[in-house]
Amino acid sequence: MDGFVPVSRPRIWGDEKLNLCQAIDGGWISSRGPFLDEFEDRFAEKIGIRYAVAASSGTAAVHLALSVLDLDKNDEVIVPDFTMISPVLAVLACGAIPVPVDADETWNMDVEGIKRAITDRTQAIVVVHTYGHPAKIDRIMEIARRNNLRVIEDAAEALGARVSGQPVGSFGDLAIFSFYANKVLTTGEGGMVVTNDLELCERVRSKRNLCFGADEETRFIHGDIGFNYRMTNLQAAVGLAQLQHLDEAVAAKIAIAGEYTARLRDFPGITIPPDSDWGPNVYWVYGILIEDEFGLDRKTIQAELKRNGIETRRFFHPLHRQPIIPKAGIREEFPKSGRISERGMYLPSFIGMGSSTIERVVDCLTGLRG
Ligand SMILES: Cc1ncc(COP(=O)(O)O)c(C=O)c1O
Repeated sequence: MDGFVPVSRPRIWGDEKLNLCQAIDGGWISSRGPFLDEFEDRFAEKIGIRYAVAASSGTAAVHLALSVLDLDKNDEVIVPDFTMISPVLAVLACGAIPVPVDADETWNMDVEGIKRAITDRTQAIVVVHTYGHPAKIDRIMEIARRNNLRVIEDAAEALGARVSGQPVGSFGDLAIFSFYANKVLTTGEGGMVVTNDLELCERVRSKRNLCFGADEETRFIHGDIGFNYRMTNLQAAVGLAQLQHLDEAVAAKIAIAGEYTARLRDFPGITIPPDSDWGPNVYWVYGILIEDEFGLDRKTIQAELKRNGIETRRFFHPLHRQPIIPKAGIREEFPKSGRISERGMYLPSFIGMGSSTIERVVDCLTGLRG
């Protein structure tokens, strides 16, 4: 058997080490330093937004973003039913009630579902751009503006994606990204909050650093709840080197997906990931659905691939089945998100994965069908 094929593997481009050595030699190893400022500035530029605040993780970033909305107990925040849990934990940590809505054909929040979920207690919508395919953020922004709701974009899985040519992360009042090792841009652990609103930016900055007072007199007087969610200059040193290759990284993901799609598009029993003209998929992961027609269930397929040295990952568990979600927010059925979550899994798609490895994965997968 050939070597093990992981679902993901970080791509190190080369300059990361150089930058890291420079940071260490300069003594800037903690949460201040030249790489941090530059990483924030260059990242904001890349998204086309005024301010960026680096954080210790994507989870920290989304908690920071939610925490400046001043949510009260019993306030409601609309979230996708089909999502990674971090943005929802952030809503819960702020004391608010997450109200899930079902998925649409792009595996993102359904726009009509959002409209139905709005009540007089709704304060905000958290829009997650799932697995590299953008949500219908332009339409969601219209609904939010009409109803005076704040929007947080969670673009952790979709860095590099655009809607009608505009980068995701530049639509909402605030947006967040993750730089965990499986992301297209990694700092090991890390995240970013971006916004065009100076006041929100300053509040995020303050909360990231324990809400210290602004000067020597007031330094240890804390007017609000804050956290230590700071990114280090070492992480930023890696991030800045990675940022220079972001376009290349996104193109590589799209190319891998293209090879998978060419082989799997017409294969019976497999549904390939969504794509659209208005918001092309950047394929952070290559997710497929296993339909009954395949003749084997997902669990068996995953086990067989694993036996052949190929790692896969199943899709997120839907929110309405999570033990931690308050029943008060569950008001609808979630047929689409339930289906996606029961049938979905993603295939290896790390940058640098060659065509022969893609072939090996496809051959092994398609060979399982009797
Ligand atoms: C949609 C979404 N939000 C937030 C996060 C959290 O990011 P991190 O793992 O950096 O904490 C992730 C992580 O994959 C994610 O997929």
